[in-house]
Amino acid sequence: MSFHGFFQPAAEGLRGVVEVPGDKSISHRSILFGAVSEGSVVVNGFLRSADTLATVDAVRALGVSVESPESGCVVVHGGGWEGLREPEDVIDVRNAGTLMRLLPGLVAASPFLTVLTGDESIRRRPMSRVLRPLEAMGARVWGRARNSLPPVGIIGGSLHACEHHLPVASAQVKSCLLLAGLRASGVTVVVEPGVSRDHTERLLLSGGARIQRIAEVGGSVRITVEPLEALSLSEITVPGDFSSAAFLIVAALIIPGSALTVEKVGLNPTRTGLLAVLERMGAHLSVSSYDSLAPEPTGAVHAEHRALSATDVTPEEVPLLIDELPVWALAAAKASGTSRLRGAGELRVKESDRLAAVAEVLRALGVRVTEYDDGLDIVGRPEGWTGGAIRAHGDHRLAMVGATAGLASSEGVHVDDVACIDVSFPGFAGTMDLLSSPEGDR
Ligand code: S3P
Repeated sequence: MSFHGFFQPAAEGLRGVVEVPGDKSISHRSILFGAVSEGSVVVNGFLRSADTLATVDAVRALGVSVESPESGCVVVHGGGWEGLREPEDVIDVRNAGTLMRLLPGLVAASPFLTVLTGDESIRRRPMSRVLRPLEAMGARVWGRARNSLPPVGIIGGSLHACEHHLPVASAQVKSCLLLAGLRASGVTVVVEPGVSRDHTERLLLSGGARIQRIAEVGGSVRITVEPLEALSLSEITVPGDFSSAAFLIVAALIIPGSALTVEKVGLNPTRTGLLAVLERMGAHLSVSSYDSLAPEPTGAVHAEHRALSATDVTPEEVPLLIDELPVWALAAAKASGTSRLRGAGELRVKESDRLAAVAEVLRALGVRVTEYDDGLDIVGRPEGWTGGAIRAHGDHRLAMVGATAGLASSEGVHVDDVACIDVSFPGFAGTMDLLSSPEGDR
């Protein structure tokens, strides 16, 4: 049970069958792409969270009408590229990094000024990785600290295609450039050093875009996009967010007595790298797919408690579980042996410096951790931890790591900020309470 940020041990384990709220990445994209689609787009299963509501407000500021974002079924009345209007004020993305990175691509060919800012964490996020390539394509861009930090400004222009080589695999940067590529003259190419989530490609393809992905020797991926006169999306179904399900899955694995199933969850292989890593650790998992041919594969994941052993997460794997690494670290903390994570320097520029923040959380639980520039060594404690007080640094995923650590502890964990959990998983505490209440109380 949870109370005012205090998460008590789940003495009987977590048991039951649940669903998690809609996928955050796909919800953002549904609103943004719906805004420039021709005609109305119905979005089923939309995640109604702090982050995605910032995206609804952003497209409204650009002149697009959005109906009923207070429910799980939202209608975006897209007016095509020409339907976008100059916002009257600065757009505040709040804590939404995906909005901050994708919106500049959406407006890169619109001949007006768009200015974006966000909360304290957003104003520390590197932006030159999107502003520089957009400038090379013909947009005019500004940003604090020599075009590297928000607030940022964009005046759209007539765009020409470029070939972009990304230094790190990033779905946000790739998506921004693909959006701009839809409005450029010629074929835009984005080459990523590894595989990142491909929701943008899948959604744009379903709306008529011509996009190709070619895997290259050495692990890089070459994505090409042709200009598109009109995007035509009509209905989008958002699956449950695998990144939210990850907290339930790891909780079940590390808390004795647990056996739970998460249904209707997204199983896009560019998102589920955590499952392969956990299986290497000896996890008791089973996955059933509903329809692998749908634009976004979905299914159910069943997880049961079992002793875990340490594993190493390699740099190539990192983009496939980038948002799950904080909760993976908690699984590693309960495993026997030393787990190593490398090639994860990007975690330092997320909602918080997640390498430093995760190390701090684990140390507060009494786990031995060594921090590197790009990773962590975690010495597992299969005997578990008593509890402690944890700082979330305003980061929703860190707060949920702390909460999960509390459920797995013997005396409970206090998390200083639980309000931030609403950024991605509204109802998290209620779901955990439901799963941890004894059978008869459900
Ligand atoms: C996201 C991509 C990832 C991820 C973020 C959401 C997206 O960021 O960490 O939470 O929706 O495209 P990067 O593109 O910076 O890796």
